[in-house]
This record gives sequence, C-alpha cells and structure tokens, in this order.
Amino acid sequence: MPKQSIASHRKDEHFFLAEKFYTEADSGLDDVRFIRSALPETAVADVDLTPGIFGWQVPVMINAMTGGSPSTGKINAQLARIARNLHLPMASGSASVVLSEPELAPTFTVIRAENPDGFVLVNIGADKSPKQAASVVAMLQADMLQVHLNAVQEAVMPEGGRDYHWRANLAAIIAASSVPVLVKEVGFGMRHDDFAAIAAVGASAIDVGGRGGTNFAKIENARRHDADYSDLFDFGQTTAESLIEGQDSTVPLIATGGIRTPLAAVAALRLGASAVGLAGLVLHWLLKTDEATAQAKLAAFIEEMRVIMALLGCTSIAELRTVPIVTTHLADYARARGLRV
Ligand code: FNR
Repeated sequence: MPKQSIASHRKDEHFFLAEKFYTEADSGLDDVRFIRSALPETAVADVDLTPGIFGWQVPVMINAMTGGSPSTGKINAQLARIARNLHLPMASGSASVVLSEPELAPTFTVIRAENPDGFVLVNIGADKSPKQAASVVAMLQADMLQVHLNAVQEAVMPEGGRDYHWRANLAAIIAASSVPVLVKEVGFGMRHDDFAAIAAVGASAIDVGGRGGTNFAKIENARRHDADYSDLFDFGQTTAESLIEGQDSTVPLIATGGIRTPLAAVAALRLGASAVGLAGLVLHWLLKTDEATAQAKLAAFIEEMRVIMALLGCTSIAELRTVPIVTTHLADYARARGLRV
C-alpha cells in the first residue's frame, strides 16, 4: 500500500479519536426545561417536522466527518446510504485533501454515487480559494457548499495554521459559488456579531457549531506531543449558548455540537435552530453496531422528535417556538450578554 500523507492519515486519526473521546453531551441544551401541558390535544401523526429550508424534509442532517482515506471512504458510503434512506441532507468531511491528492476523490464521490438524488453538502476550509471551493462542489455535484471555521482546532492541531484572517476570503468564496453556502464552526461556538458578519458576506445559513459534543481541542491535543493545550478543552460557547448568540440571525441556523438525544434536538429547534446536525453520535452508532442498526437508531431518533413535539402540543417547528421554557444557566448567560433566552 502507498504511504499515507499526513492529511490523509489525519482523517483516520480524527474518527478514531472522536470515538475514543466520545462522551455524553455537554451542549447546554439540557438546561432547556419545556413546560408542558397535560392536555396536548395533538397526535404524533399530525406533526410536520419540515424545516422549511432548502427543500429539506427533516430537520436533521448528517454533518461533516469523513473522506480522504480508504477507511473513511467506506464510512462515507455507509453514511450516504443512511442519508438516502432517511431523506436527510449529508455533508462530506473536509475535501481539501483531494486538492493535493486527487486519487482520494473516490472516498468522497462515493457519497454522490450512493445517493444520486439526495441533498449533499461538500465541506472545505475558509482558507481555500474560490476556485478550489468550486472544484470540490463540482466533484460531488453538491447542492450546497459548507465552509468550516476552525480557528481553535487549527491552533491545537500539530500541523495547524497560525493565521486566522479568513473574512475576505470567505466573502470571495461565497461571491464565486454557484451553490448556496453554509458556514459552520466545528465545536467552539459563535458570538452574536459573527452572525451578522457571516450573513453580510452572503452565507445562506450558519451552523453554530457549539461546544459540548465532539471536542477537537481534545482530539488535536492527543495528536501532538510537543505541547499541551488541555487548558482549551472547555474553550468557547456551548451549542445552547451559541444559539442564544445567534438569536438575531437573518439567515437560518443549524445547531450542531453534542446533539445526542431527540429531546436535545427539539430544545435546539426551540432555541431557534431550523435543523440540527449530528456527527459523533452517528459515527458512534456505526462503529459500535452496523449500518442497518445505525440507520434504525437514527430513524427512531427522528420519530422520538415527532413524539416530543406532539407531547408539547405542537404540529410544527413554528408552534414549538411558542412553548414556554425555563432555563437557569442560559437565563444568566443571556442576561450577562444583554440577549434574550
Ligand atoms: C468532524 N467535524 C468536521 N467538521 C468540518 O467542518 N469538517 C470536517 O472535516 C470535520 N471532520 C470531522 C471528523 C470527525 C470524525 C468528526 C466526529 C467530526 C465536525 C462535525 O461536523 C461537527 O461539527 C462536530 O463533530 C460536532 O458535532 P457532534 O459530533 O458533537 O455531533
């Protein structure tokens, strides 16, 4: 077998370490207590989960993880079949590696091959050129470009970048893109002014990418031996805090980061997300069970979201937003930030 490049080997290390550090979530979403009525006057069959964005049928996406090595190509094929069967949007992992190693393209294009008619997003970093972004969109015939902002991950990554001037390039990528662009963090969250800045350069949606799930400070720190960045393990805003930060966003929000339960997913929708993104949880199911079981678990997850909506007396996400909630930490957080829960 030819020797793997650092970039390709990193893909294998990421999924191995993501699973090694897989834990219960600390996304802040369990601070959302729904105040329910004993008379919901709804039926599960009446619940319409359609998020109303980009033609998606379900407010759950399989978020960016893999591609770029033979083993992660296999995972992409499995994820793509699950996305196809459950009608979920799915994002590739960062496709930057293909720019320098075009022979790895099949580990990404398998997503389109397995799901020819599905909604596919292709992922790339904010430091890549508009031309490079366009080339990965074409490679996957992607419906949407997903650009990741990962300053903290780069800082902790042994071979990571040290320059985080991305705004002008992000604007150039979006201006040149033939498809809508979703901008995401990878697990350290966003601040109130980020949402206006990202919308101002033309993004069509923002994934708050909050802290509380897969932790790239832990993952990258485990890959380096020359320094210790463990003080950054709890750096950044949780997913719940990031949704509070994003409350004035003019573009739809996606909530990713530590969504591990249907109740957490519904709480994220209640805090303003139009959809949630799942990464580590689906990978965990795939690695611990098999493709059919992982798909069944994800189908059951979405069904339970419907059940919870019905229990809250809601038949749509718009109605869910009117259900009363009580929070403790989030209420303090919002007050300290001059924002609303
Ligand atoms: C990721 N994530 C990610 N994000 C991104 O924008 N580009 C990428 O290439 C990757 N790669 C990647 C690999 C693996 C193995 C995992 C588990 C995750 C981040 C992912 O999309 C998501 O934002 C975070 O994982 C938080 O969500 P969860 O895992 O807590 O559901």
